[in-house]
Amino acid sequence: MTAFKHICCCAAFAICFLYSMHDFAQAASNIVRPGAVWSDTQGARIEAHGGGVIRYDGKFFWFGEDRAQGQDPAKRYVSCYDSSDFVHWTSHGDALALADPEDLGPNWVLERPKVYHDTHTRQFVMYFHLDDSHYKVARVGIATSSSVCGPYTFVRGFRPLGEESRDIGQFVDDDGTAYLIFESRPTKGFFIAKLTADDLGVAEKTSFVPVPLEGGALVHLGAWYYVVGSHMTGWRPNPDVYAVSHSIHGPWSSFQNIAPPEPNTYGSQPTMLFKLKGTRETSVIYMGDIWNPRALWDSRYLWMPLDIGNGKLRLPDPKPWKVNAITGATSIQ
Ligand code: GAL
Repeated sequence: MTAFKHICCCAAFAICFLYSMHDFAQAASNIVRPGAVWSDTQGARIEAHGGGVIRYDGKFFWFGEDRAQGQDPAKRYVSCYDSSDFVHWTSHGDALALADPEDLGPNWVLERPKVYHDTHTRQFVMYFHLDDSHYKVARVGIATSSSVCGPYTFVRGFRPLGEESRDIGQFVDDDGTAYLIFESRPTKGFFIAKLTADDLGVAEKTSFVPVPLEGGALVHLGAWYYVVGSHMTGWRPNPDVYAVSHSIHGPWSSFQNIAPPEPNTYGSQPTMLFKLKGTRETSVIYMGDIWNPRALWDSRYLWMPLDIGNGKLRLPDPKPWKVNAITGATSIQ
């Protein structure tokens, strides 16, 4: 073998070796650590609280409240991250940077953003809780964009079905029908409401769950719909509960603790139940926020695969877990 060939062979071998080590390191680090600081692919803390994940164009997109320090105090920010593996998230900056859109006053509130992809209009429609500092306005706001990570433009604020609306949640059923979940204090419960065909409004009540709960989230798996919510203790955690039904219209079973005997859902509050449908399995991920009201930017994420099926649901003791976003398999370490 000539010296040149020898060098080429060695270089090719080294490149292959480095690539496989890189793959190995990526696979080995496909671990989610509930409650730990979660950094994006640039090493910055992920700021996506009260958020939601959607799947679009072969990737996952995570939107949430960006509570980072040092921002313009007059504005509210919604971040956008994408990921191929559900573990490593790349920041695309803020999808929405909004100044008070409705004269709500200082310390106005934008919380729990959720994004729908409307396949008819091809627009992305962001919903969020819009309020004043006393949570008295109780509306939803919507903003739209032609591109998934924005920039989004504010469209309007309104009370869905004319009702007060505070915490919101997002649910898209297997047939593509999109719903908004919203908590309505005067009616002492929360609504599951179908969106209009263009996703720009709330069309009709689908179900009303007559229990005063917030942080509402819903998943459809097999023959069951599972709804979860937290009691109303503000930023303080409490025992999240769930109920089930064979139909999204209800009737719903009675509610029970999702993580017995743990009294406060391991310090978290739900924001979404994400159905991770893979080539081999379907896992349901509980996405919760561990709020830190004195330093909201340092609120952590409690994401865990649920024990779920046959009308039963349980949040396991949080431990690091592995996910294969292609097969849908998850395993607790
Ligand atoms: C929580 C709610 C949060 C935020 C907070 C304010 O119950 O889920 O999104 O509104 O109250 O106290």
